[in-house]
Amino acid sequence: MAARINYSVQNTLCLLNPFNYSINAKTTHFKTGINFSKNLIFPRKLKSPMFCTCATSNNDLQSSEPAETFVLTTPLYYVNAPPHMGSAYTTIAADAIARFQRLLGKKVIFVTGTDEHGEKIAASAAAAGSTPSDHCDVISQAYRTLWKDLEITYDKFIRTTDPKHEGIVKEFYSRVLAKGDIYRADYEGLYCVNCEEYKDEKELLDNNCCPTHLKPCIERKEDNYFFALSKYQKQLEENLTRNPKFVQPPFRLNEVQSWIKSGLKDFSISRASVDWGIPVPNNNKQTIYVWFDALLGYISALSAENEQPDLQTAVSSGWPASLHLIGKDILRFHAVYWPAMLMSAGLDLPKNVFGHGFLTKDGMKMGKSLGNTLEPNELVHNFGSDAVRYFFLREVEFGSDGDYSEERFINIVNAHLANTIGNLLNRTLGLLKKNCQSTLVVDSAVAAEGNALKDTVEKLVEKARIHYENLSLSSACEAVLEIGNAGNAYMDENAPWTLFKQGGAASEAAAKDLVIILEAMRIVAIALSPVAPSFCWRIYEQLGYSKDHFNTVTWSGTKWGGLKGGQVMAQPKPVFARIENKTELEDEAATKKPVKSKQKKPQAQVAAEA
Ligand code: MSP
Repeated sequence: MAARINYSVQNTLCLLNPFNYSINAKTTHFKTGINFSKNLIFPRKLKSPMFCTCATSNNDLQSSEPAETFVLTTPLYYVNAPPHMGSAYTTIAADAIARFQRLLGKKVIFVTGTDEHGEKIAASAAAAGSTPSDHCDVISQAYRTLWKDLEITYDKFIRTTDPKHEGIVKEFYSRVLAKGDIYRADYEGLYCVNCEEYKDEKELLDNNCCPTHLKPCIERKEDNYFFALSKYQKQLEENLTRNPKFVQPPFRLNEVQSWIKSGLKDFSISRASVDWGIPVPNNNKQTIYVWFDALLGYISALSAENEQPDLQTAVSSGWPASLHLIGKDILRFHAVYWPAMLMSAGLDLPKNVFGHGFLTKDGMKMGKSLGNTLEPNELVHNFGSDAVRYFFLREVEFGSDGDYSEERFINIVNAHLANTIGNLLNRTLGLLKKNCQSTLVVDSAVAAEGNALKDTVEKLVEKARIHYENLSLSSACEAVLEIGNAGNAYMDENAPWTLFKQGGAASEAAAKDLVIILEAMRIVAIALSPVAPSFCWRIYEQLGYSKDHFNTVTWSGTKWGGLKGGQVMAQPKPVFARIENKTELEDEAATKKPVKSKQKKPQAQVAAEA
């Protein structure tokens, strides 16, 4: 503590005068006994909080260089049933990555959408007593609604029943045909309708059951068009040798390499028995295989609304994708079939394919076909989108499987968002209100000179950046949470509430401590915003910033020094309402009148230490 204050806070303020107000001799006296220039802290005409306009680098995108483009895709979801938490998981992860890339200043094109053709969709429409087209409209809309509730900031939503997509699929098919890579043959094999895929007998369980869907595969014999995948074996191998990072995480590369090594078989790309699909050019008795059709959605999505939709213009609007995010069950389609199709059509390959793990329930993949799903709308309704996003990204290591438990969900979000971050912010603002009229006494850069917390925060935020870059989303969250832990430790060690009571230099030191902790909170608000955007906005708002400021902040805003002396914080208000767990609710219900909602109203945090 000794080295922390060796000059007057008031002098520092006068020297910095960040808002360029004239400073006169009049001073206002805070309870702490620290004197501040009245004009500097409370300019009479300024009713709203003073916003920081410098050093958080909202301007650092103003370079003449065009922004690098980052094209990111989720799978296009089957519309056989409304979305479940497993489908939401990929999209939440994609959204966090998209938001992070935007913070880096890149021009992001975030593509998602729905996969609407094929036997499985036709069957689910029939089961629902609907036409395929009406059924697709309803379910596709359910996806969009969920994405809105989860604050998914996609740029393009493609439906494979969109006519512009259909045109591009036909054009692509014709290119591959012209290349000599499509031929006609009979096929006989075991088909899993849920996977929409012919299976190799040796992959199947007893009774020819699909290992993912646990349902028997059906014997099929068809006259189909085939894609000459085997022709691309060598090129695919070479691609992986040249670019081993093509498949992520690294442990999935071996799987892909061994599929290729074991010998690639040509696969059928049309169906004679399925009407609900895009007709094969020059043979309307067959429709294009749903996977051949859907993968092209990644390209057709890129074409602009008002643009003549053709393959070349769509490609020139952003292809190749920087990253395909997918679940591990569809890795073969993305890391083997799709690159070969692109090679055949003479198009560039995506730069990366990342295969994440499954959300499981009792160890089984959560899914529509098994009926063991978790309802995302319910989770969002009960706990809010920040909690849902944070929990799944923090708790499940991206790339591995993860099991859900409500108890764990509640414990994690309460401990991390409500306590470690929310409570620290609230305590600090409470102390600032009580002792400094909610006003920062000095620039955070000055307050933290030689301060160890600043170094810790700088290291942790850099760690978070690297983890985001590597798609280690859980570790990125962990690094940001560590900032909160370090802030809490700092608060407890320095006990500013005691220092304020001592007055004089001790009070000045305490006022600086609050600035330091709030600056750490500001950095948390930027660094965690890809994962929990509304939560982070609420933190930002508490620090006296405008929504515009938050919306335009970039990653370089995580540099220490954004908060300036004179900045007025908002009235302390909890930024995350603690979730009551069931046991507490049940106890409460047993003694009091029934409780309807699981989420308690925001509890006032300890406003200021006594
Ligand atoms: N329509 C195809 C994708 C075509 S992409 C051109 C498809 N659709 S799907 O709806 O069945 O699955 C979409 C994504 O959701 C896949 O990446 C799949 O792995 C993911 N998930 C479905 N259930 C999941 C879990 N239980 N856990 C995590 N992700 C899961 O496949």
